[in-house]
Amino acid sequence: MIGMERLIVDHPLAAARLTTMRDETTDNAGFRAALSDLTQMLVYEALAGAPKADVQIKTPLTPFTGSRLAKPPLLVPVLRAGLGMVEQAHAMVPEAQVGFVGIARDERTAQPVPYLESLPDDLSGHPVFVLDPMLATGGSMLHTMELLVARNATDITAVCVVAAPQGVEALERSGHPCRLVVAAIDEGLDEANYIVPGLGDAGDRQFGPR
Ligand code: URA
Repeated sequence: MIGMERLIVDHPLAAARLTTMRDETTDNAGFRAALSDLTQMLVYEALAGAPKADVQIKTPLTPFTGSRLAKPPLLVPVLRAGLGMVEQAHAMVPEAQVGFVGIARDERTAQPVPYLESLPDDLSGHPVFVLDPMLATGGSMLHTMELLVARNATDITAVCVVAAPQGVEALERSGHPCRLVVAAIDEGLDEANYIVPGLGDAGDRQFGPR
């Protein structure tokens, strides 16, 4: 197996937000708020080693060499569930561009059904953050990565809330140039490919059932 870099964001505040999201008594608004807070922490950690570029500014007192992100990542929420992550990720990196991928899940086969692709043509040299709270079988994430790699992306970060070991393994085996930033890796999948213990359907928990 190819070693994929993975960062598990193990912080008491991340754990508290994730617990709120897991709790079946949390309503849609509470779930969205916790996801937004947690996204802030995940993006913060995901950018910890990002290269910086010097910028010359003046403080009110003196010239100063400060810094900005050298290469802001393209943010790619995977619709529907990734929508709840993009606003906060964009607030953290306001200069980022945003692309969109829409993938539904066939509830019978659990296979990804793509319905939207809105991405820049050439991603050479651009880091990309794929935002999707749930990495279950990995089907949607792998489909998204294939779209990105076909556009020459070589630096892809999957930013997720909960992953199943099967999804992590699928990413590892894909050989795509990717890393994973996640708040928790859970026990596994149930017979309908929901993550266990998980938090249910992340789209329904944010927006209500379809
Ligand atoms: N998608 C979800 O929203 N939840 C899961 O548990 C798995 C996939």
